[in-house]
Amino acid sequence: MFENLSEKLQPELSEIYRYLHTIPELSFCEYKTSEYIGNKLTEYGIEFNVLLGTGIYADIKGNNSGKTVLLRADIDALPIDEKSGVDFKSKHKGCMHACGHDAHTSCLLGAAKLLNAIRDRFNGTVRIVFQPGEEGDGGALPMINNGILNGVSAAFALHVEPLEEAGNIQVKYGSIMASPDEFEITITGKGGHGAYPHTCIDPILTAAMIVNAYQTVVSRNIDPMVPAAVSVCSIKAGNCPNVIPDSAYITGTARSLDNETREKLEYTLEKIAKNTSESMGADCEFNFKKLFPPLINDKKITDITVNAARKLGIGVVWLERASMAGDDFAYFSQNVPGTYFKLGVGNKKRGIIHPIHSPEFRIEESALHIGSAVLAKSALDYLAL
Ligand code: NI
Repeated sequence: MFENLSEKLQPELSEIYRYLHTIPELSFCEYKTSEYIGNKLTEYGIEFNVLLGTGIYADIKGNNSGKTVLLRADIDALPIDEKSGVDFKSKHKGCMHACGHDAHTSCLLGAAKLLNAIRDRFNGTVRIVFQPGEEGDGGALPMINNGILNGVSAAFALHVEPLEEAGNIQVKYGSIMASPDEFEITITGKGGHGAYPHTCIDPILTAAMIVNAYQTVVSRNIDPMVPAAVSVCSIKAGNCPNVIPDSAYITGTARSLDNETREKLEYTLEKIAKNTSESMGADCEFNFKKLFPPLINDKKITDITVNAARKLGIGVVWLERASMAGDDFAYFSQNVPGTYFKLGVGNKKRGIIHPIHSPEFRIEESALHIGSAVLAKSALDYLAL
């Protein structure tokens, strides 16, 4: 029943997707996107509320009071110049929906329409949440701090995956995305003439020693069977070939799939930066910015999505490994049992093979109604438990 309903939605979902694709907006600046979502909900007869300026949520209430389940889509875009070749490309120069959040928004609008049409046929409430700022510092935590999870007992979200064929979803128990934390280090030495290094405290050499030592953080501190990644991604120091500068600045990312490893990475990175600087006579300021926790899928809630997809005739692919990318849906599933699944949007025959965050990223649009159907049926099956 759901499959037929959602298939009928496909042309409308494509239209929504293509429009949103033309108006990508960066984190917490999703004003046009948010207005469009609100207009669509009004058209569907769904009352909504605005949170954090551009976030939107709405409760679709069924027959009787019962459990409340949350469905979440992120709505922001990336600072990338689009090179996808589609004829509905971004009209916002330097900004692109290269992570498919326009598709997530379309899928959730579709799910809202499906659920609202049958709300006399289920008990409980489905809270739909359009969350801003996932690519930035994260809109999930401030939404939760504003009470978005009040009364909620389970949460579902999807993310597009162009490396999986349209028609399938990917699922996993346990950790599926990493904590994508960041570190920054300012090393302050003593500048001077490159001819007289003995009168200086060289921050560049200190930085180089720290970067080298960081290669041991994972290889010599973390169990080889436990995933972790440390990458130094920028160094800034000096601007003249014969002057040793006063300071050097390093930034990087530290990622893990569990909280124990996360703590160990922070501790070890700080210790190495400070001790190496001290041994060189330099000062060191170390900041570790905890972005999102690891995203952990609940087994029982994941099974609901797996069974929902199978009943809809959608292929279910079990992921063997988590990704070392992050998603702040982690905050939802840290507070209530949840699952985050990947929606296949690839089509090798049509050349739709570019990964998310690529300027050439695009999707097989026929997957949109599948996303709507799996979200809606997961919510209904959870409420019926
Ligand atoms: Ni994304």
